[in-house]
Amino acid sequence: MSSLKAILISALCVGSLAAMSNAGAAQARRAAFGALTDGTRIDAVDLSSRAGIRARIITLGARIQSIYAPDRTGKPGDIVLGFDSLQQYFDYGNYFGATVGRFANRIAKGRFTLDGRAYQVSVNDHGNSLHGGTRGFDKRVWKIESLHSGSSASVTLSYVSPDGEQGYPGTLHVTATYTLTDNGDLRIDYRATTDKPTIVNLSGHSYFNLASSAAHFSTMRDLLQIDASHYTPVDDTLIPTGTIAAVAGTPFDFRKPTPIGLRIRDGNDQQIRYCHGYDMNFALDGRAGTLRLAARVEDPRSGRVLEVYTTAPGVQFYSGNFLGGAFVGKHGIIYRQGDAVVLEPQDYPDAPNHPNFPSAALAPGATYHSVILYRFAVKR
Ligand code: GLA
Repeated sequence: MSSLKAILISALCVGSLAAMSNAGAAQARRAAFGALTDGTRIDAVDLSSRAGIRARIITLGARIQSIYAPDRTGKPGDIVLGFDSLQQYFDYGNYFGATVGRFANRIAKGRFTLDGRAYQVSVNDHGNSLHGGTRGFDKRVWKIESLHSGSSASVTLSYVSPDGEQGYPGTLHVTATYTLTDNGDLRIDYRATTDKPTIVNLSGHSYFNLASSAAHFSTMRDLLQIDASHYTPVDDTLIPTGTIAAVAGTPFDFRKPTPIGLRIRDGNDQQIRYCHGYDMNFALDGRAGTLRLAARVEDPRSGRVLEVYTTAPGVQFYSGNFLGGAFVGKHGIIYRQGDAVVLEPQDYPDAPNHPNFPSAALAPGATYHSVILYRFAVKR
């Protein structure tokens, strides 16, 4: 990792919001973000749309570094947590805005069998593998394949994961395409192919805070809705037990909009205790493979609303339990526990070890394709 210690060479000015909103069509523009100590350049791509939404994607971890969206008065604000400098992304970890893989979420003890062969992948979380292991896709430098401006703005990033990387079988060719449509939807298309049977589970790990203002940063009053009547309870290391349980009567019932903070301190619920709040996979209703609403978050103060759509079978809701107040993020804001809503559409955690979960296997000749779409709105 030391060779990857980053130095900031320049933080290019993004251009004023006014200039962005005057742009005739959706635009994708490339800029420098920083460089690693070995000189590898890290680029940013700024996507802007006439709808007033803009997003910055950086090539370290194909990650979202900022998203600006208007509040109910029309005032734009940055609604994701993150950092101004590359060095901070290495110092603080925690997958801020990153593409996580090869396998998002956890694999028990980093072990699984596929077609009768046993594999051991890198472990980094209480003896389990989390988000691809010690050096997952969030820590890789992705290549910008193409940029597009026009009726929508997009960037495609690619990464080739060699056979055996972090213990995973097969050379995996991965792309992440971020598209900002002119009506302001931000869509991510993940695609992957392999040359050997393998497993893949890619997700986006953005920490949303719709308030965007240090004075109102807790998300505990945000209204959350998750379209899931089931969830996958876990053991004390957050590995699913294999049960797919009903949310009815538990603090995990978000089928109607509910303040996040209402039940987050429910000490009678073992799952809440294990998770230190919310850090749970919800088994989404509706058919996996079709783009459908997974979750909706509303910040009553700013009026900002986020809808998350996905084709994935599940969504992990993580309430920022491990944000300890030690990070000074963008805009000089310190991130404390509960300061973010993280909604990670994905296959179920530890799917390779649970035959009753939807399969995360990918065969040569097939293409993995998973979509996340963020839709931004305001409630007046
Ligand atoms: C995911 C995991 C959490 C935590 C965060 C990053 O959401 O489920 O347990 O690791 O990533 O801190």
